[in-house]
Amino acid sequence: MADGTDQKSSNQMWGGRFASGPSAIMEEINASIGFDKKLYAQDIRGSIAHAAMLASKGIISPEDKDKITDGLNTILSEIETGSFEFSRKLEDIHMNIEARLATLIGTAAGRLHTARSRNDQVALDFRLWVKEELQKTEGMLTALIAAFLDRAEENADTVMPGFTHLQTAQPVTFGHHCMAYVEMFGRDRARVRHAIEHLDESPIGAAALAGTGYPIDRHMTAKALGFREPTRNSIDTVSDRDFALEFLSIASICATHLSRLAEEIVIWSTPQFGFIRLSDAFSTGSSIMPQKKNPDAAELVRAKTGRINGSLVALLTVMKGLPLAYSKDMQEDKEQVFDAAESLELAIAAMTGMIRDLEVRKDRMRAAAGSGYSTATDLADWLVREAGLPFRDAHHVTGNAVALAEKKGCDLADLSLEDLQAIHPAITSGVFDVLSVEASVASRTSFGGTAPSEVRKQIAWWRGRN
Ligand code: ARG
Repeated sequence: MADGTDQKSSNQMWGGRFASGPSAIMEEINASIGFDKKLYAQDIRGSIAHAAMLASKGIISPEDKDKITDGLNTILSEIETGSFEFSRKLEDIHMNIEARLATLIGTAAGRLHTARSRNDQVALDFRLWVKEELQKTEGMLTALIAAFLDRAEENADTVMPGFTHLQTAQPVTFGHHCMAYVEMFGRDRARVRHAIEHLDESPIGAAALAGTGYPIDRHMTAKALGFREPTRNSIDTVSDRDFALEFLSIASICATHLSRLAEEIVIWSTPQFGFIRLSDAFSTGSSIMPQKKNPDAAELVRAKTGRINGSLVALLTVMKGLPLAYSKDMQEDKEQVFDAAESLELAIAAMTGMIRDLEVRKDRMRAAAGSGYSTATDLADWLVREAGLPFRDAHHVTGNAVALAEKKGCDLADLSLEDLQAIHPAITSGVFDVLSVEASVASRTSFGGTAPSEVRKQIAWWRGRN
């Protein structure tokens, strides 16, 4: 059959030397149309640019170029309205579209594949797709950063315990904690921008691997497709999937950041911590325990990291040890990237929603900040500053004070002056100025420190860069 759908006939695109068609298993393992149909718009855009270039260089006639362009636009709307019939026998999106073009416009369709191969075609389509996905990710990260900046601004003075080893360490502000995530997602966004710059080279015209003898203009197609310039080595062009690996690496790092935040949300929303309340929109109930409000969205964001990291490892493993240039192994690149992209988008969107909506329980944070001897370092610093003790001695004296407070079951600020003077005679009532969590936080004015004044400066810096 002329459309290549007959089981027994050889493939119409490459079957000239074949006497019969592939076995059913061959067809199944070979076909990528089930997933690469996602690239239809990029494929059509690439083919229209390629045809225009071929015509401008006199390689095909202007009439054929017009027929090809009209036919491709028809196919675009057929796919978008759902009337296009994809065929697995035609393997992939490139051959599905070309076969349909032949049905629509006849012999002119056969001229489209002049001076190109599916190797540079798929490299082009996939690059275009990944570039768009990176641009989308950039926008989504900007929205997440903006949500955090708002929460940081509202909570520049909200005191909470800062942790190391998940043990109370020193008081910080919730605004400062939010800004830590702004830094992380800001770096993720910078990596995204860098990756866009990296991949901004057009593969089309590299042909199978060696370039072509036709007088093509690769700069023209690069420009028409919105790339900065054409790639410089045709062998590398059809072999390279760094752009996909970079996307997956960036996605994995970003997902790792999201998972740490997700974990904190899970912890903070327990009744034991009670630092935040999640909105109803981003939590679920239990079918058996009526009192429950579960942070499912945060848990799923935490879990998506597994899929995304898995995709990175999968594609690294596919690419490892592949000889140049193209090998069919590389067809396995797309599902990993598509799945990771979908997971990452969902995770960022869910996290942005949670951050925008969550209720900050300032009273609970303040109470927790005051317990656990979180101002012990402030006492030690006071002894250094006001009583002239070496820091190591001050550390020891403070340790004695903590032990006494522990024995009495109270906080450092609740010890009497007599108690403190019994530990070290140089202590005066001035010490109580630094034992409160507010004083502790306000004193940490070093660049990047937790003092509200400093946090506000950092917020302003980021606002200028959003
Ligand atoms: N479906 C293929 C892929 O995704 C397209 C390129 C096929 N090239 C080839 N020489 N068989 O990689």
